[in-house]
Amino acid sequence: MLGLSSAIVLLILVCSCLGVPVPGQTTEGWKDKKADVCIVVDASSSVWERDFTTMLQFVSSLVSDMDIGPSTTRVGVGVFADRFTLHIPITNNLPKETLRSEILNAPYLKGDGYLSRGLHGLREKCLPKSLVRLNVPLIAVVFTDGPSRHKQLSADNATLIKENMISLFTVGATTLVDRNELLSLASDPKKEFNYYVDEFRHLSDIHTKLSTRMSQVQIYQEHGTCGRNVKADTFFVFNEAALGRTDSQNIKIFIGSVVNNFSMNSGNMRASVITKSCLREDIEFGQ
Ligand SMILES: *[C@@H]1O[C@H](CO)[C@@H](O)[C@H](O)[C@H]1NC(C)=O
Ligand SMILES: *[C@@H]1O[C@H](CO)[C@@H](O)[C@H](O)[C@H]1NC(C)=O
Repeated sequence: MLGLSSAIVLLILVCSCLGVPVPGQTTEGWKDKKADVCIVVDASSSVWERDFTTMLQFVSSLVSDMDIGPSTTRVGVGVFADRFTLHIPITNNLPKETLRSEILNAPYLKGDGYLSRGLHGLREKCLPKSLVRLNVPLIAVVFTDGPSRHKQLSADNATLIKENMISLFTVGATTLVDRNELLSLASDPKKEFNYYVDEFRHLSDIHTKLSTRMSQVQIYQEHGTCGRNVKADTFFVFNEAALGRTDSQNIKIFIGSVVNNFSMNSGNMRASVITKSCLREDIEFGQ
């Protein structure tokens, strides 16, 4: 008996020395985190079954980081192809390890992939107002490998999700995805809410970044009200070469603070920066 317990102690020591996370152990950012999380995975035929399994394993590994419990982090899981199927409701009370293995049983639907239906199901079935907790951050992550069939329907649904105070992460895999589309669907700041890997097996490369950023999501606060109910495109135009470095830098900082007051998540406001001479850094609409 003594031999066995010291072997276990030794094993744990070895694990922590090597920096390998012990399976199922909550990582620091997720400790005591209150959040309602919905993860939606593309289960259409364009994703090979083997890659679908890779995605589910990745989702299960994300959940491994979390402090799963009815008063801490709750996770729901859905899949989509030509329809949305809720596999695990947010109200499940499963212990973490059961939840993790249940994720691996999500159905591979096959058929065409309609991202708009995935997003629609996410909002109506996975994180509906009637099921989410009040004053708790709402987080959604959508995995897909292709462009939308109906870009406008997807965009409208993503806007509704964000208007429902849900922070939306998008993760694209393979070269078939429309990276700009997934970028535009994600919450702001887009660089932090949009991820891309060229192959499914590289998903593990984004694990730490994605999990850490998810754990940092706070209760949704609209930064600005400008553009809440109107649509507007704003151009900022200045001549960087003529103004010189310092003035140009100040102008960029000013533009940043103005844009911060736009209601970007409503999908109504779009901003574009044209510096005339410096093409590389110019920012186009939808980024
Ligand atoms: C969302 O997607 C569904 C399913 O494709 C579609 O019927 C609906 O019109 C879309 N837009 C909104 C705003 O719900
Ligand atoms: C942004 O909004 C804040 C608070 O409403 C205001 O103090 C600030 O001046 C605004 N910034 C700009 C650049 O308009």
